[in-house]
Amino acid sequence: MSEFIRVASVNDVPDPGRALVEVGDRLVALFQVGGKFYALDDVCTHDGGPLAEGELDGLTIACPRHGAKFDIRDGRALTMPATRPTVAHEVKVEGNDVFVRLSE
Ligand code: FES
Repeated sequence: MSEFIRVASVNDVPDPGRALVEVGDRLVALFQVGGKFYALDDVCTHDGGPLAEGELDGLTIACPRHGAKFDIRDGRALTMPATRPTVAHEVKVEGNDVFVRLSE
């Protein structure tokens, strides 16, 4: 199991909004909605689109390439053309610091 790594300050991420962060050699899309944080691989499972650049609507992010939607809470693919989930990571907040632990 990997460790929690500090990736951002709470103030770095708009609410609602997102930031692209690096965790090791991974690009992770970090989201804040309603004061809660979520993290997904910045990779659409349809064809590798950069999810952090997509449109955020509530707890859903739409891939900027062909529009597949994912649930930011668990990475589930909600609409075509994606059929497989993207990887969701664990997030914790301590004070003003946001930490991510890669789940795989
Ligand atoms: S690459 Fe994301 S929908 Fe096609």
